[in-house]
Amino acid sequence: MSQQVYPVPDKFLKNARTTAEDYAAKYQQSVTDNTQFWREQAQSIDWIKPFTKVRDVSFDKDNFHVEWFGDGQLNVSANCLDRHVANHPDKPAIIWEGDHPYRHKIISFRELHQEVCRFANVLKKQGVKKGDRVTLYMPMIPEAAIAMLACTRIGAVHCVVFGGFSPDSLASRIEDSQSSVVITANEGLRGGKTIPLKTNVDAALQMPGTEGVTSVITVYHTEHPTNMQQGRDIWYHEAIAEVNEHCPPEPMDAEAPLFILYTSGSTGKPKGVLHTTGGYLVYAATTFREVFDIRDNDVYWCTADVGWITGHSYLLYGPLANGTTTLMFEGVPQYPTWARIGQIIDKHDVTILYTAPTAIRSMMREGDHYVRESDRHSLRLLGSVGEPINPEAWSWYYNVVGEGRCPIVDTWWQTETGGILISPIPGATPLKPGSATKPFYGVQPAIVDGEGNILEGECEGNLVLIDSWPGQMRTVYGDHQRFIDTYFSTFNGMYFTGDGAKRDKDGYYWITGRVDDVLNVSGHRLGTAEVESALVAHQSVAESAVVGMPHEIKGQGICAYVTLQADVEPTEELRKELRDWVRSEIGPIATPDAIHWAPALPKTRSGKIMRRILRKIAANELDTLGDTSTLADPSVVEHLIVTVYPER
Ligand code: PRX
Repeated sequence: MSQQVYPVPDKFLKNARTTAEDYAAKYQQSVTDNTQFWREQAQSIDWIKPFTKVRDVSFDKDNFHVEWFGDGQLNVSANCLDRHVANHPDKPAIIWEGDHPYRHKIISFRELHQEVCRFANVLKKQGVKKGDRVTLYMPMIPEAAIAMLACTRIGAVHCVVFGGFSPDSLASRIEDSQSSVVITANEGLRGGKTIPLKTNVDAALQMPGTEGVTSVITVYHTEHPTNMQQGRDIWYHEAIAEVNEHCPPEPMDAEAPLFILYTSGSTGKPKGVLHTTGGYLVYAATTFREVFDIRDNDVYWCTADVGWITGHSYLLYGPLANGTTTLMFEGVPQYPTWARIGQIIDKHDVTILYTAPTAIRSMMREGDHYVRESDRHSLRLLGSVGEPINPEAWSWYYNVVGEGRCPIVDTWWQTETGGILISPIPGATPLKPGSATKPFYGVQPAIVDGEGNILEGECEGNLVLIDSWPGQMRTVYGDHQRFIDTYFSTFNGMYFTGDGAKRDKDGYYWITGRVDDVLNVSGHRLGTAEVESALVAHQSVAESAVVGMPHEIKGQGICAYVTLQADVEPTEELRKELRDWVRSEIGPIATPDAIHWAPALPKTRSGKIMRRILRKIAANELDTLGDTSTLADPSVVEHLIVTVYPER
């Protein structure tokens, strides 16, 4: 833990809306009278029917319930669009920057409103009704935002699947969510390369379990012909030309489902995290406004893909609910050159940049000169999300990208939490590189030991939340018991995050990473179990165990130990084949960084794989393997070490 403290930069402090004293007082008030705090915050949202009850919450696993603003009604798209059309119709809502540097588009609140209403009418025409699920498999183009908002306009539940997932992964999400409509594009475009989205959808819809899909709406994004299946497939541009732009927002109960987003857990297949309407929107809007110190003329840029929760809460809903201009970038930081990020900041006068440590580390590796090609004088605030940021990357981000004048908000949160839970409030919180610092208003984190005892003062242990916040997930879609078992059964009465954390003498939180079998690869979450089941589905593989290993750019890399079937020879070709296999089963983000042939895997006498030892071997920490005496056959470890480090 670096104990270097960075006070709030002077320039920022001069205009700060919140001081350190304000934060302390407001935080205290927000936990002492949580109901009153959230009642006040919820006033920033337009309610079709005002709520009378703020919260009704119990984290006890035998009497679990969470309801926020329970008897209120609202519409998310009306909050993101209609009220801003009334106040500033011509203000840019979305600045879209294409993959190619010569392509961009600016969409005002009025235009976005029109497009969303039209597309909502298209969905209605396709038979989509309130509560129906719609799967999106889209590139980073405005139509992705339009489709999400159109779903919320009519009360349909969107399930966005990241465009980098394979047809298999897409099919299992379509099946689990029982979607009737899929929205996609003929192709995606990233770094000059095309991604065959529609072809992947076609392949997914060949798979069992996806028969419920009756229409596929396709955006014609690249000049590339696409197979269109008669009776099922329609073009986006043709469909919107046939409808009008009048579509009143559907009044939705605060606790009505808003969206499902799949995320990896430590066991089994990805879970459908379900968020609801009122609590989520209040939480996304409030955290966005406070954590990013939002002002009317901000141009805010979040680099996350809409396929992840950050793309939901802080690319789309948080900004638009606040009437903030949000920048959406289709491409990648290195295309056409590593100077691109700085060029986009200058081109659109970006004031706030929110990105991930993995992107920061890869830009840092390429050298300062790329960033220094740009002025970046518009920038006033930086943000980081997705994984712990190492102090070197933090300092580079602070000093080189932000030239020492922009605070960094290192925001800790999860798909499940809907919004940021631990983060500095810029202007109020002195920063320590690598620490997400302090809880957001109304949020009560705690650190517990293995038995669930709350630890006080300076300590290290498991990170939990001891009280609710409006943005928390409400269930695992279709499996409420899995929700209770995963999050509320490890420590009774508490939400267990799956993360470890330290708290220092100043009450700052330092996230140490996952304590379960979830990997964080370039800020993307992956269950070791998912990669393992992909590997064992290959005919040559008898058994496999997957662990994380340190990786300079990705934070964590994927290390797979593979035991082959008795008659199979380990070869370089097979290694490559297995890497490609996992890629095609799950998607490129799951590609193993290392595959080691394991004559056998280290197991306890009861047959449990000892991952602790495998992690140590992967990290080349052979001197600290720990106790191996409980292994059924301790010689397995020696064999493994010889295989992995033959030159040793
Ligand atoms: O381990 C934590 C890490 O990312 C996990 C959540 O991943 P996901 O649901 O994909 O959401 C990512 C975007 C919110 C957490 O359990 N994580 C996220 N943000 C941070 C972080 N670890 C350290 N510092 C962060 N700022």
